[in-house]
Amino acid sequence: MRATAQAQPNIALIKYWGKRNVVLNLPAVDSLSVTLDALWTRTSVMFDERLQRDEFFLNEQVRPAMLSRVSQCLDSLPGWTGSRPFARVDSVCNFPVAAGLASSASAFAALVVAACSAAGVELEQLSQARLAGRASGSAARSLYGGFVELTAGDEFIDLHQLAEPSDWPLSVVVAVTETGPKAVGSGEAMQRSAETSPFYQNWLDKQGGDLDIARRAVADRDFASLAAIAEHNCLKMHSVMWASRPPLVYWNSVTMACMETIRRLQAIGHSVFFTIDAGPQLKAVCLPESEGAVIEALAATPGVRQIMTGGLGAGAHLMDSA
Ligand code: DP6
Repeated sequence: MRATAQAQPNIALIKYWGKRNVVLNLPAVDSLSVTLDALWTRTSVMFDERLQRDEFFLNEQVRPAMLSRVSQCLDSLPGWTGSRPFARVDSVCNFPVAAGLASSASAFAALVVAACSAAGVELEQLSQARLAGRASGSAARSLYGGFVELTAGDEFIDLHQLAEPSDWPLSVVVAVTETGPKAVGSGEAMQRSAETSPFYQNWLDKQGGDLDIARRAVADRDFASLAAIAEHNCLKMHSVMWASRPPLVYWNSVTMACMETIRRLQAIGHSVFFTIDAGPQLKAVCLPESEGAVIEALAATPGVRQIMTGGLGAGAHLMDSA
């Protein structure tokens, strides 16, 4: 009745922004991501008949605000007859939470894998990904390693691994510009964009074309093509956000300075591009030979608080169960 799983966050190169079904948490658009190896969430789940309620600890601290999403995710496991036993969930995360570093992706991917094992529920990877995706859309992608495509349907999502981490070993350098939680959570922000942004429909209409280009770039290992479409897709998502009312501006001045740094590196021939999610951190994706220069340049950018770096990694997996 106790199991521990690890999952790593994933970074979308073609973004998920918007939901077609809020209740089922089905994304409005397809997306493509890379799963990281250096950042992780490790989660233990223990179902215990003696508990009076679910308990959730993050980095050894009680986190009441996050408990209801954890409980809902546990409720969604198939096979409960009547009421389920309550669980104690202990999560440890080696990077800042809720600051636009995809912590909910690794959190729910690890939770689903650990909870299924602790509950004795045997599910294939895709079914686990669908459960994780119901809790947080991006979490579904963290069930898979390397390059991952998520296809959003009207009733469920599908996932495919496009390439293994070793097929195209890219490096990812994260520049942390702020460690506090984001002002508006992505679920609420997506809803606001759908309701108020004049660019939202265009975003939906163009996503398939962007994804085709990115998929082909991954198949051909064409870095320049992937770089161009990923930056374009990221800036388009942020344009949708900026034009929402009230506006959703997740960047700070250091985020902008980091973008300038990437532009300078590109101008002197480095194979690197940036992407930014619903937070102020900048993620630089580069070929391994440029990693040293990217780390050095981002670390020297005034205001950058921390640099985290690594390669591409595996999908969520069980660590132990008893
Ligand atoms: C900007 O997966 O956090 O990171 O489904 O509401 O939990 P919910 O949203 P979430 O959104 C991620 C948005 C993004 C882009 C992406 O990861 O594709």
